[in-house]
Amino acid sequence: MPLSLLVLLLSLLTAAAPATSLPSTIGFTYHPVRPTNPSHVASALQSLHVSSVHLPNPDPDSIRSFAYSNISLLLSLPNSLLPYLAQNRSNAELYLYTHVVPFHPRSRISAISVGTDALRHPIDLSDLILPAVQNIHLSLRHLGITDIAVSTTFTFTTVLTDSFPPSSAEFQAPIADLIINQLLDFLQHTNSSFFININPYDVYKAKPEIPIGFALFRQTPFNYRDDTVTGVRYRNLFDAMVDSVITAMAVAGHENIPVVVTETGWPSGPVAGDKKSDPDATEVFAEVYVNGLIEHLKSGLGTPLRKEGVAQTYIYELFDTDEKVENGTAPQPYYGILYPNMTTKFYVDFSAAEPERMGGGGDGGILVAVGILIAVGGFLWH
Ligand SMILES: *[C@@H]1O[C@H](CO)[C@@H](O)[C@H](O)[C@H]1NC(C)=O
Ligand SMILES: *[C@@H]1O[C@H](CO)[C@@H](O)[C@H](O)[C@H]1NC(C)=O
Ligand SMILES: *[C@@H]1O[C@H](CO)[C@@H](O)[C@H](O)[C@H]1NC(C)=O
Ligand SMILES: *[C@@H]1O[C@H](CO)[C@@H](O)[C@H](O)[C@H]1NC(C)=O
Ligand SMILES: *[C@@H]1O[C@H](CO)[C@@H](O)[C@H](O)[C@H]1NC(C)=O
Repeated sequence: MPLSLLVLLLSLLTAAAPATSLPSTIGFTYHPVRPTNPSHVASALQSLHVSSVHLPNPDPDSIRSFAYSNISLLLSLPNSLLPYLAQNRSNAELYLYTHVVPFHPRSRISAISVGTDALRHPIDLSDLILPAVQNIHLSLRHLGITDIAVSTTFTFTTVLTDSFPPSSAEFQAPIADLIINQLLDFLQHTNSSFFININPYDVYKAKPEIPIGFALFRQTPFNYRDDTVTGVRYRNLFDAMVDSVITAMAVAGHENIPVVVTETGWPSGPVAGDKKSDPDATEVFAEVYVNGLIEHLKSGLGTPLRKEGVAQTYIYELFDTDEKVENGTAPQPYYGILYPNMTTKFYVDFSAAEPERMGGGGDGGILVAVGILIAVGGFLWH
């Protein structure tokens, strides 16, 4: 690692949160598909004091159903629209005329993701991502709408190099040079955020040496892994993955762009494409993951490299669903915290842990003295 990067990472460790940082908010992904009625869902979420919702492939009725709810919406446009939106600005404007203009700001649309994990689409869309993002952004400005951030969503395992420690993370070549660097310039320039799907479940399944407790936010003596370069101790996989993203952005020259976790969850049944069910995909583990995540986010401790943590997190997802929506955006069947009939699958503590005072004790609050390399403990993970 070049010395300048090490200095940069160490400075991230001690930097105060910028004055502009927003409090971390927790929302839920809701696929507006049968059999739920969007307007019932909107009022149910409002009564649970849910402040933000992620709508993949939204239709106008679903967007309308959140009018006057004060729930902020992240709209994810499907990958299949990228060729159309990238073609010219008038196409982007037509889309906005049907999905945004009639509803905003009564429906509080706060962000638009133009495509999700488009790099993994069966057809190569990589050249279309940036033009489509630009066209949506420019069309919003042309319509006089300046309070909707525009970005595109990547998936951790698709864009990050696969390694520990987080301080060694980079964006994968060649997409770093082809797409991500230009996107980061755009996000910085437009005050937008880096959108990423972070699923510890996927990394845990790919690396048998990771103990399940590390993926599930369990506080037990051996559930940690030290980053010997920065001297930071990681107690959960989520933070390690977030800090890998922060490091990769810093390597690319952008250390201040907010990170939005557009999806994170844990399956409670067979994952799409798996023939037999996974013994770790249970309702008990899903409950532990979701509640551990909420408690961790609400602790206000952030991550070791970013005190203010991620700007927003959307838990994947509200309902179990088996409906195929569209290539690339088909919901996974068993990630819901509610059954399709809207009854609760497992307990979710929406009010868990009021925000704690920043830096108030505990390993997360006290920064490890820099420059001292700590002996590797915990479990081994390469
Ligand atoms: C709407 O939500 C925002 C932020 O989520 C909050 O500051 C504001 O007080 C809410 N307004 C109402 C009327 O609830
Ligand atoms: C934009 O592209 C569409 C095809 O997707 C085409 O029909 C339309 O004429 C184009 N508009 C302009 C202004 O070039
Ligand atoms: C970005 O935010 C800064 C500070 O809040 C503001 O001065 C600037 O005008 C914003 N830029 C855009 C493109 O919105
Ligand atoms: C999904 O992909 C398959 C092949 O990859 C294609 O035949 C089908 O038309 C696609 N469906 C949609 C809705 O795009
Ligand atoms: C809702 O669905 C779940 C799972 O299919 C089922 O166990 C439960 O009994 C249903 N509840 C009601 C009230 O229909």
